[in-house]
Amino acid sequence: MANAAPTTSADSGNAAFTVAPIAGAVGAEISGIDLRASLDAATIAALRRAFLTHLVLFFRDQPMSDAELVQFGQDFGQLAAIPPHRRLPGGDPHILVVEKKPEDRLNFGSEWHSDTTYLESPTLGSILLAKEVPPVGGDTLFANQYLAYETLSDGMKAMLTGLRAVHTDGRTKRKMQLGFVPPTDAMGEDSQFKTVETTHPVVRTHPETKRQALFVNMIQTERFDGMTIEESRPILRYLYAHSTRPEFTCRFRWRSGSVAFWDNRCLQHWALNDYPDHRRRMHRVQIMGDKPV
Ligand code: SIN
Repeated sequence: MANAAPTTSADSGNAAFTVAPIAGAVGAEISGIDLRASLDAATIAALRRAFLTHLVLFFRDQPMSDAELVQFGQDFGQLAAIPPHRRLPGGDPHILVVEKKPEDRLNFGSEWHSDTTYLESPTLGSILLAKEVPPVGGDTLFANQYLAYETLSDGMKAMLTGLRAVHTDGRTKRKMQLGFVPPTDAMGEDSQFKTVETTHPVVRTHPETKRQALFVNMIQTERFDGMTIEESRPILRYLYAHSTRPEFTCRFRWRSGSVAFWDNRCLQHWALNDYPDHRRRMHRVQIMGDKPV
């Protein structure tokens, strides 16, 4: 099944909420909940179920402070720390500001990817809160990687089984050196970073749902383990195109106070760069994840 049919409300908790899918493949909008309130265990469990079913949850009108955003993130796991020089002065060590200024040409996350796959244990999920958005544009796209895997032919699935891929932040580093990516907008965590490289299975099993998902992305996957870049490229290119087919996606239009909470283990996303001369500013926290298997 792609995205589950509309559900009505959480079964328990102090703030029964509604879940409305926004597309056929992925994504649901949650309403009837105030994320600034401290959530009880039943509500957190119900949100987690919705998260595992819909892969990305959207919330409107949640003008959270940084402390409230951190608290909400911590309801779902331990948060990743941001390198000191990338923190807001005196700010919380878990908040990363994702900003494109009116004069900037480039933005953060403008290609299909999952976050931090160059790490041995990539982040489980990310929570993004919109602080300032352009009048139009700056939407984020999401693509369901369970569907990407499930719709491959049996032959391709068999070929990918057991294959591992090398993930690196080196491409971002090279782009930064060439001036295509501003140092502060790196996909990696900082402008002084050393290249980090790791290998992951090309098809990973989600640790909670036990479903299989395609786990390669055009920003961080360099090649198949044991093969050259040239040998890997044709198949990887096919997988990148296949895994982001329009029917696997949803598109979220932000408003100030909107929140997206997505699962990096079975999703890719793309932050569109179509709002020249406007500011877009978001605050992000990331939940630590485990080693893909
Ligand atoms: C990201 O890649 O985490 C940023 C997504 C966005 O700004 O919409």
